[in-house]
Amino acid sequence: MAASSNYVIEVRIDVLKTLKIAGLATGAIAAIGLGAYYFHQRTQRAKRVTFREEVKHILEPFQLTDEQLRRVMANLNTEMTNGLRSDDEREKNDLAMFPTYVHYGPSGQEIGEYLVVDLGGSNFRVSHVNIEGRNRIRLNNKIFLIPHSLLLGEGDKLFDYIAECLQRFIDDNKLALHKPAGYKFDLAFTFSFPCNQTSLRQARLVSWTKGFSCTGVVGNDVVLLLQQAIDRHKGLNIQVVALVNDTVGTLMACSSIYRDCKVGVILGTGYNACYFENIDNVPKWKGVRDQATKQIVINTEWGALGKHGCLDFIRTSVDRELDESSSTPNQQVFEKMISALYLGEIVRLIIVDLVQRSILLPGRMQKTPSLRSDYNIFLILRGSFYAKHVADIESDNTEDLSVTSSILTSIGIHDPSYDDCYLIREVCRTVSLRAAKLAAAAIAVLVNRLNQSSVTVGIDGTLFRHHEKFKKNLARTLSRLVPRTHRLVLSEDGSSKGSALVAAVDRRMRETGFSS
Ligand code: GLC
Repeated sequence: MAASSNYVIEVRIDVLKTLKIAGLATGAIAAIGLGAYYFHQRTQRAKRVTFREEVKHILEPFQLTDEQLRRVMANLNTEMTNGLRSDDEREKNDLAMFPTYVHYGPSGQEIGEYLVVDLGGSNFRVSHVNIEGRNRIRLNNKIFLIPHSLLLGEGDKLFDYIAECLQRFIDDNKLALHKPAGYKFDLAFTFSFPCNQTSLRQARLVSWTKGFSCTGVVGNDVVLLLQQAIDRHKGLNIQVVALVNDTVGTLMACSSIYRDCKVGVILGTGYNACYFENIDNVPKWKGVRDQATKQIVINTEWGALGKHGCLDFIRTSVDRELDESSSTPNQQVFEKMISALYLGEIVRLIIVDLVQRSILLPGRMQKTPSLRSDYNIFLILRGSFYAKHVADIESDNTEDLSVTSSILTSIGIHDPSYDDCYLIREVCRTVSLRAAKLAAAAIAVLVNRLNQSSVTVGIDGTLFRHHEKFKKNLARTLSRLVPRTHRLVLSEDGSSKGSALVAAVDRRMRETGFSS
């Protein structure tokens, strides 16, 4: 780390050593040195205050008050009610509030063997799930990398790749061995994008989110696309029996353990939630309304909040910049302020701003990319700062901020000073705290809407799982915003186990004469 004005302890030790060794004469020199040192410290401290004032000014719009959070809550609540009323685009609803055709949580009586394909987060996973009754679930899975080109290319190729991975998974695990001739695996498809469902097995993709943009998929039935790709693969005997959003999987997995779990949340690459709603509160529901379908799980797709301006009062110039340079401008406005895919980029944009104002890394901004090209790349390249960096830096409590320093060095910012590290940690803390507060405000709306004596919220996703400070801030804010009893519970492998549970519940209901 470069020399900094803040190495108070080091300098003092040096001065004491000098006094011991060289006696009075040297002591006098040291005294002059000390004087100079304290003078330097004072000027440095004054400089730091100026820095901090400016930084404060830049960070202020990110510091949300509870009053602002309550306004976000009120707007979200209104948009939820509007979304449940109609799908009519002319109504300019922010939220899709998709009915999912899931009416019941697991009873504990479900059994069966399922394959699950989980697409939509940072990973693509294939799982083999055995539900053994009394909610005992065994799971074996494998993560497959999706080449970036497939995420941006033709949809058919993506689905063919999924089918190929399924084949590999079945072969590697010898799953087809000892199966009777003609045996077909049931597969639940966890597909974590906004889909308009017309049954558990029919789901039209409305739009891609989270940076995916394969052609030929939007507007089509993704269950059919996957089934067709499977059928093109001779030897694969699989039928797709359910399409499940990751939030719904999380809810199902968690509600198999906690009876009062009525909300499923993903706080990862994207931010979304689903919950059990009374069917009477869903005027747009066109399906069956009877004793057996009193409730339905609604996929809120609340990441889309703000597309008609209801979050403008808290959006910063950085949020707008991030949105405008994304592949989906004016979409997922709320998600872009919260989820892991965007947190690092918000921080990076603030850092770039601070560097350009010479507040951060003063005098270090390279004019030509040929000098220290890596350093420039960090400043120029979108997406080069990750949520993981934000998490690690914001919890850096080392005295010399060495964790921050080595992270910055690893991404090309060489020899940052203590002050640089300190400021960047401040930026990370502010951006992460805003995200946690906004995430909490949204969950608070659902807890209030449910109006139960106690609610368990099942949550999965990297931000909740690995980002300790974020999790604490989320819980703290939520407790302030909702006095009701609630608990936040990590849902382990929810999106895979839960999807298998959706398929299993559906099988059980069909066998007992109910259909979805
Ligand atoms: C995005 C998707 C949503 C998903 C969420 C979490 O918001 O649109 O369907 O649940 O990310 O993965």
